[in-house]
Amino acid sequence: MARLDCRAVPTATATRPRVFSGMRPTGQLHIGHFLGALGNWVRLQDEYECVYSVVDLHALTTGYEDVKGIHDAGLEMVADWVACGVDPERSIIFRQSDVPQHAELAVLLGMITPLSWLERVPTYKGQIDELGDHLQTYGFLGYPLLQTADIILYKATRVPVGQDQLPHLELSREVVRRFNHLYGDVFPEPEAIISQAPLLLGMDGRKMSKSYGNAITLASSDDEIDRQVMSMVTDPQRIKKDDPGDPDICNVFSWQKLLGASDAEITEIYEGCTSATLGCVADKRDLAERVKALIHPIREKREQLMEDPARLEAILEQGAERARAIAGPVMAEATAAMGL
Ligand code: TRP
Repeated sequence: MARLDCRAVPTATATRPRVFSGMRPTGQLHIGHFLGALGNWVRLQDEYECVYSVVDLHALTTGYEDVKGIHDAGLEMVADWVACGVDPERSIIFRQSDVPQHAELAVLLGMITPLSWLERVPTYKGQIDELGDHLQTYGFLGYPLLQTADIILYKATRVPVGQDQLPHLELSREVVRRFNHLYGDVFPEPEAIISQAPLLLGMDGRKMSKSYGNAITLASSDDEIDRQVMSMVTDPQRIKKDDPGDPDICNVFSWQKLLGASDAEITEIYEGCTSATLGCVADKRDLAERVKALIHPIREKREQLMEDPARLEAILEQGAERARAIAGPVMAEATAAMGL
């Protein structure tokens, strides 16, 4: 069998390896996304050629019953990305469904992937248990294959994702090895770059999520931020202001650290809390100012962008063009390797 040389295809330059990542357009992004995943995406732009996709086909794997919001959610997500510093000039930003090769490659990968590999991905059964039997579909089972196609269609070698995505990446690597073993060395094995988990918990101490109503989104107004921060749960043992508190179990204190309070400020807050000279309300007011300062410029920028949906569509169109220019030749290489 002819072995194809993967250097034959124009992919990442030697000096700048390629990064791929995606987010499903399923709801508004919050401050945890900014300090976690998106912060990484922005930083990676300096060192890598980055390809970032609004993975709308992936949104269909769980949300196929209610599809009317998908398009607009994708547009809004792009506004959030750009407002946070993802640069549509330097990076390729596009909608997955605008590049048909994603679906095409996923079909090819389906030919060589044993069902058992997909069935044993932990998120598969876990998500069905959590979200229900409407996920008993072929598409949902194939989710990690579509994700694999996303990445290898660009011969990306680095994939910034959260810890929860590691089983998917492991499967991607196995599928790549199988493909290369069967048809020749076409695809490089992608490697995860683990984004720091969003350590910010929601106002109530649970995982932050728009659907729990405990999140500060990138669109939150100053009033909303004040309201949310003032509702934060602190040390439950500290009932009156002159009870000493325990910052180490206080969500407000964790936020203060993650939102960039200086070492001196952190020491002051710590001592104020444990000696009961700083009350929870004052501490929260101080935190609210920090959150507002962080969100304010992002919100302004995203509002500006949202006022001009044609510009957002143009970003996605240009991104799709650049994405297809890479995906087309790689797809041709894959179909040739598979004897088509
Ligand atoms: N599965 C990822 C998530 O839920 C989203 C995703 C789809 C992705 N395709 C990808 C991430 C490719 C990285 C690379 O977060």
